[in-house]
Amino acid sequence: MIELRSVSKVYDGVAVVDDVTLTLERGTLTAVVGTSGSGKSTLLRMVNRLVEPTSGQVLIDGAYTAVIAAPELRRKIGYVIQDHGLFPHWTAARNIGTVPVLLGWRRADVRSRVRELMEMLQLDPDVIGPRFPHELSGGQAQRVGVARALAARPELLLMDEPFGALDPVIRAQAQADLHRVQRRLGTTVILVTHDMAEAIRLADRIAVMRAGRIEQFAPPADIIAKPATPFVAELLGEGDRAFRYLSLKPAADVARPDGAAEGAADGPVLPGHATMAEALSEMIWTGRDRVRIANPDGDPGIVTREALIRAGRPE
Ligand SMILES: Nc1ncnc2c1ncn2[C@@H]1O[C@H](COP(=O)(O)OP(=O)(O)OP(=O)(O)O)[C@@H](O)[C@H]1O
Ligand SMILES: [Mg+2]
Repeated sequence: MIELRSVSKVYDGVAVVDDVTLTLERGTLTAVVGTSGSGKSTLLRMVNRLVEPTSGQVLIDGAYTAVIAAPELRRKIGYVIQDHGLFPHWTAARNIGTVPVLLGWRRADVRSRVRELMEMLQLDPDVIGPRFPHELSGGQAQRVGVARALAARPELLLMDEPFGALDPVIRAQAQADLHRVQRRLGTTVILVTHDMAEAIRLADRIAVMRAGRIEQFAPPADIIAKPATPFVAELLGEGDRAFRYLSLKPAADVARPDGAAEGAADGPVLPGHATMAEALSEMIWTGRDRVRIANPDGDPGIVTREALIRAGRPE
């Protein structure tokens, strides 16, 4: 449904995006991975025409984006960037309603759409809705940014390093949110990221970019099994590292005693040898911010998301 045909962008005689041809199917999530300066953001911004291609065409459902009027393009395409880009003097709710208001939706429709999205992204509309961006945590602001991009029911969502500013644990949660929302809404997503592990976790297909060109475009399993070039293999190695770190550390290292007393009395008890990576997975899957872990010397201990954040932070 999204087609890039021989798309290039030349700045000062240099093709920063160099003859890229890609077809992305409706309802899929494509990750664009590559090192800094490889042309990922430029490629993404040519899809919503924040950047005009020097040559080549972009088509959505067979229609050239070059001839689609701006309001229609805004409705069709949501856009999320790293520092969320929220308007600082508007509340979270008003930020989320921006595009529907621009498109002239009725006020009641905007209000109910904002509530619906906030609930879907696990933001309490009555608590978070009236807050200003500076009163939100990084993870909350990021989810408000995603809600804003989804507000007008876009067919296509462009995300440029949306999780780059988040610490590793919140980031894993945000990735899980995106996965759920994308599957539920069937939105076509293009996600730009430095992080191969993120791409592998979320994408149906991965486009690996280097110096303006696509080195490989394939499902994650194929990229892992058969990296097309040494560069792709190198990126794969980096993706492993962060997760490997959490996989090596026992969750018991950061467990506190007496989980039941701290309101984590339900849910499964992880075995005492569980790793931090396993504890994190459990939190993501169950939507909790704490899990219990078996303790051979007494009552189960408790591992909180905050404790994992502190442990997982690079020194
Ligand atoms: N408006 C511009 N004028 C001139 N050069 C530009 C412009 N925008 C981007 N470039 C150059 O194009 C190249 C690709 O930039 P781009 O932002 O697409 O890279 P990227 O892959 O998104 O990098 P990063 O991971 O650091 O965000 C870079 O060398 C950049 O300096
Ligand atoms: Mg970029």
